[in-house]
Amino acid sequence: MKEQQLLFSNDTDEALSRLLATIAHDKLFVLCDSNTVAQVLPRIDVPEIKTASIITIPAGDSHKNIESLSHVWHMLSENLASRHSLLVNIGGGMVTDLGGFAAATFKRGMAFVNMPTTLLGAVDAAVGGKTGINFGGLKNEVGAFAPASGVIISTRYFDTLPPEELYSGYAEMIKHALLCNKQLYYELLDYDIGHYSPHTLLPLLQQSVQFKQEIVGKDPSETSLRKILNIGHTIGHALESHALHRNTPIAHGYAVAWGLVCELLLAHRIFGFPTSVIYDLAHYIEAHYGSYAITCDDYEELYRYMMHDKKNENGHINFVLLQNIGQAVPDCHVEREEVEIALDVYRDLFHL
Ligand SMILES: NC(=O)c1ccc[n+]([C@@H]2O[C@H](COP(=O)([O-])OP(=O)(O)OC[C@H]3O[C@@H](n4cnc5c(N)ncnc54)[C@H](O)[C@@H]3O)[C@@H](O)[C@H]2O)c1
Ligand SMILES: [Zn+2]
Repeated sequence: MKEQQLLFSNDTDEALSRLLATIAHDKLFVLCDSNTVAQVLPRIDVPEIKTASIITIPAGDSHKNIESLSHVWHMLSENLASRHSLLVNIGGGMVTDLGGFAAATFKRGMAFVNMPTTLLGAVDAAVGGKTGINFGGLKNEVGAFAPASGVIISTRYFDTLPPEELYSGYAEMIKHALLCNKQLYYELLDYDIGHYSPHTLLPLLQQSVQFKQEIVGKDPSETSLRKILNIGHTIGHALESHALHRNTPIAHGYAVAWGLVCELLLAHRIFGFPTSVIYDLAHYIEAHYGSYAITCDDYEELYRYMMHDKKNENGHINFVLLQNIGQAVPDCHVEREEVEIALDVYRDLFHL
């Protein structure tokens, strides 16, 4: 996979102009969703963006679908995009996933640039080359590995995000820090994301994104090492599905936050992961994310969701477990009883 150019800057106009100048293109297209076209695009003062063809799709993950994709293809075609045109995706993970896939498939592939405008998009979706759409009721069912030619990481546009979106992305930053190093982890637990400043958040975000980039660079197509980025997601996805089934959906990052606590408890049982780190995390998560209420009557259903996780192979649930901060072990098979004990301790820690 090609190296992605990452630019970290809150002077986004300068960074975008610089990036556009390095990528040869005959025509420029911009993809936004109905929120970013109103809240972000007017704040971008780059002459070439002002004269580009703007494509807008409806906001929300339910629109990361074949209809929106078809609309993007249609607009590119109608406005005579060629294989040498360039698409600039301005939005959260929904826009960069769909726009990346549209670009990867249009005329067998045109270049694209990501300008993530959500914290989740910046820390996770926009970097790493996974693109795609939801299909047939399944998340990210159709897609391709296709890296952006460049990604501009900034915190400048987060000021219009609902707080829940910020916290959701921050959980993925905590995830990266647990996989990366203790210093970054404690810096994040000491940082008040609810009252962030663009200037102090950017260097933390930069470390987090660079860590992901490093892992992806070593294993772009997720055959081995990249799997560690799924930590917190086996139980996190189960909680997300459980909440959806109850008709009380929870934001992805919140599910990851609680999932991380549960999976660290599991790591303690299996590898003796230090309890002090888990208590610090549980304290932070309870204070900022609250708790997700479950009882032992929910274990059966949660376990069933874990069994259906895409990452499983040969009928085993595959966990990523930490021996310590920065020491991840992928493909750990764990007995059901251990998972239930972890859920018991999670309920104790969160007073459920
Ligand atoms: N490709 C990957 O590796 C990867 C990784 C993680 C997540 N994802 C995908 O990312 C998506 C979730 O990302 P997301 O949380 O950014 O979702 P999103 O793109 O749907 O954005 C969330 C909401 O915020 C709005 N928004 C975006 N920027 C804004 C701004 N600056 N101000 C105000 N509102 C703004 C959007 O319009 C939307 O309503 C999912 O589709 C998920 O599958 C992909
Ligand atoms: Zn995630």
